[in-house]
Amino acid sequence: MARKTKSIYAGPQDEKIVISMRDVSKTYSKEAPAVSHANLEVREGEFVFVTGETGSGKSTLMKMLIRELKPSSGEVYVLGYDLNRIRHGKIPQFRRNIGVVFQDFRLLRDRNVFDNVAFAQHIIQVPGRRDIQKNVLFALDLVGLNDKYRRRTNELSGGEQQRVAIARAIVNKPYLLIADEPTGNLDADTAWDVMQCFDRINREFGTTILIVTHDRGIVSRMGRRVIEMKKGEIISDTGSDADFSGGYDGYAEENYQDVDADYNDVYAGGDPYQYDEEDDGY
Ligand SMILES: Nc1ncnc2c1ncn2[C@@H]1O[C@H](COP(=O)(O)OP(=O)(O)OP(=O)(O)O)[C@@H](O)[C@H]1O
Ligand SMILES: [Mg+2]
Repeated sequence: MARKTKSIYAGPQDEKIVISMRDVSKTYSKEAPAVSHANLEVREGEFVFVTGETGSGKSTLMKMLIRELKPSSGEVYVLGYDLNRIRHGKIPQFRRNIGVVFQDFRLLRDRNVFDNVAFAQHIIQVPGRRDIQKNVLFALDLVGLNDKYRRRTNELSGGEQQRVAIARAIVNKPYLLIADEPTGNLDADTAWDVMQCFDRINREFGTTILIVTHDRGIVSRMGRRVIEMKKGEIISDTGSDADFSGGYDGYAEENYQDVDADYNDVYAGGDPYQYDEEDDGY
């Protein structure tokens, strides 16, 4: 898929800094700031947890990264965009490079799994039905849901719904994946499975991932970089993920070829998908 040609990094290309926050504060009202003098740098391919007690400013920090909120002061650079200066009309283009996962899934309840994931492809106007089909099934395969693509999302368990939401967030091959309490509504085993999906996406594709979570058990078990917030401040940061050296590989095309072949094997004897040539709307 064609990528924009401008640098996706905040700063010199060779530093590969995907997120840079410099002395960022956010005050909603006259009360104490929700985020206070935060400094944060995240490099390409990192997997970062943001933890901290309730009300410590985690969601506020996340919202500033996707330009849902503007900081009261300080600078925020994400994927090469200066979010204080980005023009309103450019925000959708900026957000196309970011996948977002919410605690409450936010799926279309009356649609099936396939449609929910395909929806993200329609938003970026992927033209070919075949491409959409391939991309959606690839994403569902990654989260282990390729056998349930016809199910309505209200027939799925919470863990399955969250995995649909992850598939939707990655189907457009984002550089950056941001999740706010993605396992907040799940039991411990399911939460761990969902976290493994994120881990796999990070390791296989080099996607930079930022996850807000309360779950200290998961955080320590995962062994990744951890940022802790308290009363709006970043009070600790274990520092860059030293393990990872892969870098973003654009979800290599050969992975798609593999998946295509798999699906042809599994569903031999005709096109099983409802998104066939005669369908309207593509
Ligand atoms: N829209 C808003 N208007 C006013 N105050 C807000 C708003 N959103 C959040 N706050 C306040 O900002 C502070 C930080 O909230 P935030 O939602 O960022 O915390 P959090 O760390 O995500 O908490 P939680 O773990 O409960 O989700 C809190 O004191 C909260 O009450
Ligand atoms: Mg929150």
